[in-house]
Amino acid sequence: MTKIAVIAGTGSGLLFETLQWTGSPEETPFGCPSTTINRVEQDAYPADISVLARHGPDGSIPPHQINYRANLWSLMQFQPDLIVALNTVGGIHEAAAPATLYFPDQLIDYTWGREQTYSDGKLAPLQHIDFTEPFDQTGRQHLIDRAAELGLDFKPTGTYGVTQGPRLETAAEIDRMERDGCDIVGMTAMPEAALARELGLAYVVCAIVVNRAAGRCPPGSVIHADIQQSTERGMAQVGQLLRSL
Ligand code: HPA
Repeated sequence: MTKIAVIAGTGSGLLFETLQWTGSPEETPFGCPSTTINRVEQDAYPADISVLARHGPDGSIPPHQINYRANLWSLMQFQPDLIVALNTVGGIHEAAAPATLYFPDQLIDYTWGREQTYSDGKLAPLQHIDFTEPFDQTGRQHLIDRAAELGLDFKPTGTYGVTQGPRLETAAEIDRMERDGCDIVGMTAMPEAALARELGLAYVVCAIVVNRAAGRCPPGSVIHADIQQSTERGMAQVGQLLRSL
């Protein structure tokens, strides 16, 4: 059976309500992962799905303080065929409307100061990974095919701009990101994607647009206005997608 590891993000509790994040995660050479890896019960999801919650059991770890190295290291022990990373994001491009799913094919990294490599000269040998295509193409195509079969509201390509957070961006920052070619903005795909590549793990992002990015909201509305509702609609689509894998 295909083994899928899901890195759950903000709002993913809606999908995995029954998971209990009890027990202490096992220490890795890079420190402690955000949570234990939790197996999803079989009847709801036909694939063998295990979940790690990026922001911790209670969602309190901010994006810049996540121990991405420990998280990916602990997922590697489980030897997944594919890692599906769930990310709630803001929509920059007009087409990136709330509740739309994105399977980005590119990213731009605007983060700084994060532990971003295993090639630190101590525990792992230096390697310059090929990151031309940051996401696993076969895995992406698989998700795209399932999403199309299910008639989900999704975009098969897009560029994900990864910001440092935890604050949201200024309107000028989003303008710059749009000029750079970004379609969506979030805070957690890096260094996650690069670390997965260093470990040779197939990694794809399923991004859920939950708000229009800064300076892109309709006049008179605010960024946080419909986040809850968009998250619920988006996660309902992700649930369908995971159950179809
Ligand atoms: N910006 C950055 N990260 C996000 C956003 C946003 O607008 N929405 C959800 N995650």
